[in-house]
Amino acid sequence: MTPFQNILFEQPEAGVLRLTVHRPKALNALNAATLDEIGAAVALTAADRSARVLLVTGAGDKAFVAGADIAEMQAYTPHQARAFAEQGARVMQTLEALAVPVIALVNGYALGGGCELAMACDWIVAADGAVFGQPEVQLGIPPGFGGTQRLTRLVGRPMALELLTTGRQVRADEALRIGLVNHVYPAKELAARGMELARLIAANAPIAVRFAKEAAQRGQDLDLGTACALEGSLFALACGTADQKEGMRAFLEKRAPRFRGH
Ligand code: CAA
Repeated sequence: MTPFQNILFEQPEAGVLRLTVHRPKALNALNAATLDEIGAAVALTAADRSARVLLVTGAGDKAFVAGADIAEMQAYTPHQARAFAEQGARVMQTLEALAVPVIALVNGYALGGGCELAMACDWIVAADGAVFGQPEVQLGIPPGFGGTQRLTRLVGRPMALELLTTGRQVRADEALRIGLVNHVYPAKELAARGMELARLIAANAPIAVRFAKEAAQRGQDLDLGTACALEGSLFALACGTADQKEGMRAFLEKRAPRFRGH
């Protein structure tokens, strides 16, 4: 779709965008240039009114992303490290804040910054050979792209602290058990299963999908009453769309709806 050096950014089907981290020589590790490109692809997704869902994956079958780039970080001064962490945090936050659902398809190692990238997506689907972990403490650093926060929120504090302080890596079956991933599939099925999920989302009323994500995501940081009020406002707004009229009319007429995104 757009020429990048370290990622592929494509539209495999109408409404479905796919971002593939593509640095095979470094197991797709995230250097500053790759983070910049991910940020640019996220901005393009945000600006694309026809986008319905974004898939995020890694090139090849060995790694999703093997972490932030250790060769680049090795000589960092604290000042450079702060700038890199801020860049990573910014990219993860903009990805997380996308209005459309974002699914990580993890096809191998998702370590350090790779696990953090996957966790910044709305949910994770893994190949049976996937491996997750935050091994940063074995390199002399804590995680830097939000791993301490997102892992804790996803799997709970005790398990997060175990993984963050031991650096222990977990395989796909354990990741499923602790709630880090939603589904595990044979590696050769991962891309097709991801596309099936994307199609399910793309078939729904686009504004309703965005509102559902917004309510779930923004509501997390609110008290329950305020969050439910937010949900109610979005529900009310949705009833002003042509797609709500069409969706309900189609149900009553026992036919498939034709959503137009307004
Ligand atoms: N950064 C830079 N290069 C990396 C890399 C990384 N995170 N991970 C792998 N590579 C490179 C290797 O250096 C190697 O390059 P050469 O062929 O030029 O030697 C190539 O990718 C292949 O890697 P391996 O030979 O190590 O492959 P393997 O199959 O033996 O092991 C692995 C695979 C277990 C994933 C191993 O590569 C590994 O442990 N990688 C590092 C994982 C890690 O510690 N990630 C956290 C980084 S810190 C971080 O992410 C901080 C943060 O939160 C922001």
